[in-house]
Amino acid sequence: MVEEVLAKLVRGTESAILDCTVGEGGHALRILERSKCFLVGIDKDDQALELARKRLMPYVGRFFLTKADFRDARAVLALVGIPRVDGVLFDLGVSLRQLTDPSRGFTYWGDAPLDMRMDKTGPVTAADLLETSGEEELERILREYGEERYARSIAHLIVTERERRPLRTARDLVELIYRAIPARARRMGGHPARRTFQALRIAVNRELDGLDRAIEMAFYLTKPGGRVVVLSYHSLEDRVAKSVFRRMEAARIASILERKPLTPTKAERERNPRSRSAKLRAAALI
Ligand SMILES: C[S@@+](CC[C@H](N)C(=O)[O-])C[C@H]1O[C@@H](n2cnc3c(N)ncnc32)[C@H](O)[C@@H]1O
Repeated sequence: MVEEVLAKLVRGTESAILDCTVGEGGHALRILERSKCFLVGIDKDDQALELARKRLMPYVGRFFLTKADFRDARAVLALVGIPRVDGVLFDLGVSLRQLTDPSRGFTYWGDAPLDMRMDKTGPVTAADLLETSGEEELERILREYGEERYARSIAHLIVTERERRPLRTARDLVELIYRAIPARARRMGGHPARRTFQALRIAVNRELDGLDRAIEMAFYLTKPGGRVVVLSYHSLEDRVAKSVFRRMEAARIASILERKPLTPTKAERERNPRSRSAKLRAAALI
């Protein structure tokens, strides 16, 4: 939804934009092309930042990229001496590269190690989580973050199985999931491991912890007339964004630009099936 993001975020008059999830710089590049602004980009993935730096090279001198958690956006802006920006973008979740690079352990194909950390220096991998969490906690993670119907039986089998051998690779976990869910369910709703992998990824990276505060902070880091734009791919993320936007509007800090979130066009969904769950919310500061 790059065009939709740009239409909400960039008006051509801004002096600074903060991209809280710069990733490999896809949106950042388009922002720099379309506006004369200075761009501050944050990501917690070193590999992504390296790729973004290369991609944005034609605009060297007009951007600053740094490894940080977007919950620390205020400190990052203080570091570059920009107290307030004209727009903030959150493009939440994982990137396609993170998802598909086997060495990152997000994928359910093959023998990838169960890592799933966006920040490779983070303390807990998915394998650690599977080894140390109690059965109830695992069930909660799978149900809440993955909306997995068979959360209980998968969690139970994880706890039983790990007594015999540690679950270290994607293959170990996928085989276990196949055993934990009924045959008819395996044939419906995409890959049977998709929901479990999504849930573990959200838990490993604590993707929902403090998201509310981070989005709220973006409103206080944006100048009047500026924009806050949130692109989410998970109903829980969108729920958080929606409630912060409503709160900011009720406090007369911002006005919501679209009552209903924008969703991808049919053509985009066909071109990029991953985009099918995307929801875009945008607000203008008063
Ligand atoms: C969907 S991708 C962004 C893609 C990017 N907009 C582009 O066009 O290339 C999400 C990115 O957000 C990063 N990320 C997720 N949570 C983060 C957080 N709390 N702080 C910083 N970066 C985060 C991930 O590492 C990932 O690179």
